[in-house]
Amino acid sequence: MNRATPSKPDLAVEIAPGVHWIGVLDPGLRSFDIILKTANGTTYNAYAVRGSEGVAIIDTVKECFADDFFRKLESVARYDEIRVMVLNHLEPDHTGALPELLRRAPQAQLYISTRAKQMLKGLLHGDSLDFTPVNTGDTVSLGDRTLSFLHTPFLHWPDTQCTWLEDAGLLFSGDIFGCHFCDGRLFNDAVGDFRFSFDYYYAHLMRPFRDRVLQALELIEALPIRVVAPAHGPVLRDKPQHYVRRYRDLSISTLRNEAGDVKTLLVFYLSAYGNTRVMAEAVAAGAEEAGGIRVSLYDLEVGEVAPFVDLIEEADGLVFGSPTINGDAVKPVWDLLSSLTAVSVRGKLGAAFGSFGWSGEAVAMIEDRLRGLKLRVPVKGVRAKLIPTDMELEACRTLGRELALHLAGLADNKIIDMAALA
Ligand code: FEO
Repeated sequence: MNRATPSKPDLAVEIAPGVHWIGVLDPGLRSFDIILKTANGTTYNAYAVRGSEGVAIIDTVKECFADDFFRKLESVARYDEIRVMVLNHLEPDHTGALPELLRRAPQAQLYISTRAKQMLKGLLHGDSLDFTPVNTGDTVSLGDRTLSFLHTPFLHWPDTQCTWLEDAGLLFSGDIFGCHFCDGRLFNDAVGDFRFSFDYYYAHLMRPFRDRVLQALELIEALPIRVVAPAHGPVLRDKPQHYVRRYRDLSISTLRNEAGDVKTLLVFYLSAYGNTRVMAEAVAAGAEEAGGIRVSLYDLEVGEVAPFVDLIEEADGLVFGSPTINGDAVKPVWDLLSSLTAVSVRGKLGAAFGSFGWSGEAVAMIEDRLRGLKLRVPVKGVRAKLIPTDMELEACRTLGRELALHLAGLADNKIIDMAALA
């Protein structure tokens, strides 16, 4: 293997025999897709694979960097040699130069995942494009070498796939195993320490699809990988399996082992005058009385919501208590709810409760948000005007009990989704 370590890859870089990196560096970037921060920019990695019967291009770059991409491409291939064009997913940072590339190499056949068809329509807005949809096990020959495809949906786009070059043991992994880290030395054994960027990228893009990561790893771990060539960040030629294992480690639940098979219910609350607090205690007590589940009660007044995200990802049910202040739930509750986009909460059980002074919108707003996150909200929330009465506290206990029964699979089906119907 070529172990050259370019300090400033203005030119194409050979990463395996007949395989060149033709990507670009974007060292000035500090914010990606609005939500992702990067301390030193990113790279948009694209690759050219030469076979005896033509050249394949794997991904392109962001449109504004197209000139740099084409300059590198032209240094390793003529446009009339390009027979195959693969997009591992359609996000614009990898497809920006595609229209111009297809104009320059009109004979190239485009290969995209079966899931990409609908997304392509959205990107092209009526223009037509000839392409071949591919799925796991499909192959395309370049003569003396063959590309094959692995369907790895939702990592992190629905149409994500990986492309495998068997003779080189090279996995073009798209965003999987990538990171926003810009270093002209390009290879993982030559660049600066990028471990934080790797884990950060996983946490923000892959973690919400953790189950999908584990499914993809079933395909990827079966391969005799010698190099991982992701769409962002360093090319992983030194101990590439380390990064595959890291994904598995990050995707495996650690807390679940502690709870065993017992269902878990987390009750979060914030209370201005103690009224929502006593409601929270009643919800937790009701759930506890039902038995068979593990109930935890947390006061969000501690201010930090990040520590709760791991707990929430592992929990089976979530209950949020908030007073209504100025017609809204309080900020720490929204902070916690907004942080849930980073984890998978689809299908968990959700509920809300809270005390209010004169309007009391918070409970319904939280329930709407929970439904928006695809939680099930099977039991209507409880509201109490100022100090909860004994009857309202009993309603809180009932809420807790019913949630516990739902978690245990013992609930009366007649009450399921009543809140959703309201
Ligand atoms: Fe790097 Fe999902 O685009």
